[in-house]
Amino acid sequence: MSERENNIFFSMGIGAELPPPPAFDPALRRAPDRGFKLTSAQTKIALRNALRYVPESLHATLAPEFLHELKTRGRIYAYRYRPTQRLYGKPIDEYKGACIEGKAFQVMIDNNLDPDVALYPYELVTYGETGSVCQNWLQYRLIKQYLEVLTQDQTLVIESGHPLGLFPSRPDAPRVIITNALMVGMFDNQNDWEIAEQMGVANYGQMTAGGWMYIGPQGIVHGTFNTLLNAGRLKLGLLHDEDLRGKLFITSGLGGMSGAQGKAVEIAGGVGIIAEVDLSRIQTRLTQGWIHCMSDDLPEVFRLADTALKKCEPAAIAYHGNIVDLLEYVVANNIPLPLLSDQTSCHAPYDGGYCPQGISFAERTRLLAEDRSKFRVLVDNSLRRHFEVIRTLTGRGAYFFDYGNSFLKAVFDAGVLEVSLNGVDEKDGFIFPSYVEDIMGPELFDYGYGPFRWVCLSGKSSDLEKTDHAAMDCIDPDRRGQDRDNYIWIRDAQKNKLVVGTQARILYQDAGGRVRIALRFNEMVRNGDIGPVMLGRDHHDVSGTDSPFRETANIKDGSNVMADMAVQCFAGNAARGMSLVALHNGGGVGIGKAVNGGFGLVLDGSDRVDTIIRSAMLWDVMGGVARRSWARNPHSIETVREFNRNQAGTAHITLPFLADDKLINKLTDAL
Ligand SMILES: NC(=O)c1ccc[n+]([C@@H]2O[C@H](COP(=O)([O-])OP(=O)(O)OC[C@H]3O[C@@H](n4cnc5c(N)ncnc54)[C@H](O)[C@@H]3O)[C@@H](O)[C@H]2O)c1
Repeated sequence: MSERENNIFFSMGIGAELPPPPAFDPALRRAPDRGFKLTSAQTKIALRNALRYVPESLHATLAPEFLHELKTRGRIYAYRYRPTQRLYGKPIDEYKGACIEGKAFQVMIDNNLDPDVALYPYELVTYGETGSVCQNWLQYRLIKQYLEVLTQDQTLVIESGHPLGLFPSRPDAPRVIITNALMVGMFDNQNDWEIAEQMGVANYGQMTAGGWMYIGPQGIVHGTFNTLLNAGRLKLGLLHDEDLRGKLFITSGLGGMSGAQGKAVEIAGGVGIIAEVDLSRIQTRLTQGWIHCMSDDLPEVFRLADTALKKCEPAAIAYHGNIVDLLEYVVANNIPLPLLSDQTSCHAPYDGGYCPQGISFAERTRLLAEDRSKFRVLVDNSLRRHFEVIRTLTGRGAYFFDYGNSFLKAVFDAGVLEVSLNGVDEKDGFIFPSYVEDIMGPELFDYGYGPFRWVCLSGKSSDLEKTDHAAMDCIDPDRRGQDRDNYIWIRDAQKNKLVVGTQARILYQDAGGRVRIALRFNEMVRNGDIGPVMLGRDHHDVSGTDSPFRETANIKDGSNVMADMAVQCFAGNAARGMSLVALHNGGGVGIGKAVNGGFGLVLDGSDRVDTIIRSAMLWDVMGGVARRSWARNPHSIETVREFNRNQAGTAHITLPFLADDKLINKLTDAL
């Protein structure tokens, strides 16, 4: 190592200079107080843990400050260390770095923390109420320092937000390996998790928050659009070339991800009414143009909806109020309702994710800080009423689906045993389907279609436009209905103005489509047509996530309690040289309920990257399709048969023999 390099490494770490006390912009949303719950012994450890990031000379000043944060916010965020300059994903060339990947990841992290993108920018929460890039600003600063010096011969290890260090590696290994909140089984529960998080040893990565691959709510607009259209086809009898014109969809949540619902229903041609208790989140979506009007008056809301429905015009209307009030109004007034869902943050209902009926959003925030047991009781009561009103509406013909926010599990945890199919536990699922069981699993995941995405690291909108056109060229709209939907999506993407933050795009694709598009983009980078591109995907995909209440809800061979697939996906992607690999606990459904992972691949135009695309991209999708087919899911068996034919001589997936139901029933019915 040269003397200069040596100096760089010796100067790593947080310096002895104390940044000025934090200043908070009152216009920016703040995370609620998470509730201090540590014992005296645990508090001592939490303080020592936070202080190990800073030189001893600062401890006397920072220890009381950190204790104050812990007691008033339920976490140590080290607010003082938040950079004062505006945080956003800048063009890659504006970052320092010793390799392209080191600079690319800085773009991704800063985008995740951009106040225009992030849910609680001061608390490093990107989306999903608790999904964080890392735990505190000291970790952020250290990660940035490491990324600035990271070379092609090193791998940076991130454990629950903490940058453990740079280790010697090789160019074909991942540059960054991230794990978040992987708890030992016995302690893998909400309570032990909260203690670990408060002590500063666990980070809730959600999916792309801690996996550094968030692209704003656009990421979910496409999935929601696909889900709504397919729900219309499967349940309302829409033909393949029809959309949701003249159809009403009611749901809740205009937050990080749920904020996509208005835009998605509009692109699908329907009318959406979305309940949201927090006015600031409605205002964000109004400013963005993803919601067109707002009212806290229920008759007014339905007058607006009725006008749009009669004219068969798309509309996205926000109701400022509680979803349970909205639904009780629908019941009381006999309003016809074909499609119904929910996207409150029910993966963390007692942590502020679900606002109970009967109290305002401000009251919810106060109770969270002052009286958590009362808050819990109110949440449970509200969830029970919420369930009852949904039951009435489905009885009148509405199609309700759980949209991956763990809503039905939350209802079960609130004491409603009837919501479970077997009336005892959650193992056999719930009486209402999840969108994965009915729609996304059989219609998309089993074929390998999932949320492929990319970010044009140059920051140029012209690069995004070029990649949109190139991706469209790679799709044959006549192959399947799904290809047609995806073709239309990418054709209209520019027109729909979906970009929030970096110049990014999502496009559902199957294994073949992802490989083709990735190779085309890498060629464009090689030819100098566009700047470098970061490829990735949501963890909410075919292979990356084992989550019995969501991604793997349509796995019915009993292996829905296993997490082998997600771990194999992560390991396989690392072995094949993805630039970044991430594996987390909890995803969008909560601690202990999912293991989920993702990747990032920086396209630098090299032949090396072409080779990675051909092996890793294919594995990343087909590992999951293979597992689904082994679970006897019919569409994935078709997909695997085709794969085995096309890949004869290079790859082969084990196919199941299918037992005759009559044979099994004859032997077991009497048991
Ligand atoms: N299906 C998917 O693909 C998918 C993807 C991402 C996230 N999710 C899940 O969806 C949920 C929402 O994610 P998010 O990022 O939007 O979270 P978020 O916390 O940013 O948004 C949820 C919103 O619901 C509002 N809310 C809470 N209780 C309410 C009530 N009773 N009535 C009306 N509004 C209420 C909150 O004020 C908040 O704005 C999470 O559980 C997340 O894990 C699902």
